[in-house]
Amino acid sequence: MTNPSRKVLLVDSTGRGHALANLFQRTDPAVQVFYGPGNSAVAEERVYTVPEVSLTDPASAVRFCQRQQIDFVFVSHIDALSRGYVDFLNASGIPTIGPDLAAARLEKSKAFTKRMLKRHGVNTPRFEIFDRPGPAKKYIRELDYQVVVKADGLCEGNGAYVCDDQASALHAVDSIMLARVHKDAGNCVVIEERLFGVEISIFALFDGKDFLLFPPALDYKRSDDGNTGVNCDGMGSLCPHPLVDGAILRQVRTEILEPLRVGILRDGLNYTGFIYVGAMLSDDGIKVLELNVRFGDSEAEVVLPKVQTNFVRLCEGVLHRTLGSVSLETDAKCYCNVVAGQGATTRLGEDGREIRYPGWPYGDFEVGFPIFGLDALDRDNSRLFLANVCRNEGRLVTSGGRVLHVAGIGDNYAQAAHNAYINMEKVSFRGMSYRSDIGVMYDSSDSRPRQDDVPRQEMPEGGYAPPTRG
Ligand code: AMP
Ligand code: GLY
Repeated sequence: MTNPSRKVLLVDSTGRGHALANLFQRTDPAVQVFYGPGNSAVAEERVYTVPEVSLTDPASAVRFCQRQQIDFVFVSHIDALSRGYVDFLNASGIPTIGPDLAAARLEKSKAFTKRMLKRHGVNTPRFEIFDRPGPAKKYIRELDYQVVVKADGLCEGNGAYVCDDQASALHAVDSIMLARVHKDAGNCVVIEERLFGVEISIFALFDGKDFLLFPPALDYKRSDDGNTGVNCDGMGSLCPHPLVDGAILRQVRTEILEPLRVGILRDGLNYTGFIYVGAMLSDDGIKVLELNVRFGDSEAEVVLPKVQTNFVRLCEGVLHRTLGSVSLETDAKCYCNVVAGQGATTRLGEDGREIRYPGWPYGDFEVGFPIFGLDALDRDNSRLFLANVCRNEGRLVTSGGRVLHVAGIGDNYAQAAHNAYINMEKVSFRGMSYRSDIGVMYDSSDSRPRQDDVPRQEMPEGGYAPPTRG
């Protein structure tokens, strides 16, 4: 049976957006994907960039949908979601997938999320919330365990201070609440118990009633080799997650997704689309560290290429609330994504003195450097996803910190990592930098590779079928 041709507006502009656009067009032979504001450097069949659709102005999307007779909109950028984009489109009668403004608080406010998780019995580390620095510091001084201090707002991935000792935790409170390094996100802090273990990024598509679990991934959040440097939200990823087996998947479903689902329904949140649960595989079970209301970057580039099910159909399942009866087909390959970022550069200023740019994610960086070698990538064993790349006079140039993703594909992790790196080595731009150890297993607290775990390569027992509910 052929699918009727659908016209979709995808609201995003990141590497994750590229991976979603690719998923739509790869799994549906007829769909037309309008990618707004999108990225004019993305060259995929039946994917059209729409710069007139603004992330911050939902009326621009409504105008475009009405003119183009778009079937549905998929909103996956937090700048749009946290401004009520979905509410506006829904009010205009346009079928839309994405959490509304109230539900997007699950990413926007850590305090809101922690309270919600606790209320509904979702396993999460111990915590307290403070809106004044004095009581926050008093609390820290009384604890006999390490903490993570979290600013309560959107902080571009660097609002969580994982502290080794009391002094650094007290300093983190001052930075967030007094020095206001994250501006208004410093009105309130969450002080959370620090956990040790291996992180896991869990993704599920939600139709407002049921979840469809996607393969979990392992994200490398630190900027530098050996899991050192600053937390920058994703320098690379592996999928499947090397430590996940059937037992862990069952725990994910019963101890995390099911209470979360019930909590969302009981709290009356209007939530559809992907939910991203950042969790830790700790000695004390799986515990939720954060929720995001969109897919992850750099995980999208390893999870979504595995998906074989027609994604337009899945979206229609979301819109009709029939996801509960759908299962997800995935391939049996391993994927390893490596992120190339804009590293350090120097240039001569007008006064003849050298200006140094530390590069992303440490500080200022330059943009506009031509990118070479993309045509040489082997498309049989790798995928390319563009994040901050733009077209300038016909050439592709860098336009931001996290520039592009090269995902290697293999029958096992070693092959996938090898293919990521041999292809990444063909790419170059001035100041390019990337981690050289994506694929090595680390504990969250350790810069030495783990010795005890040989990554598992088979699919988990039961695959990624939907949960059975009694
Ligand atoms: P968040 O801003 O909550 O997403 O946290 C960002 C990152 O900080 C996570 O991905 C972890 O690497 C780390 N992190 C957050 N909370 C904890 C915790 N309770 N224990 C250990 N690491 C954490
Ligand atoms: N990979 C972490 C994030 O997308 O927030």
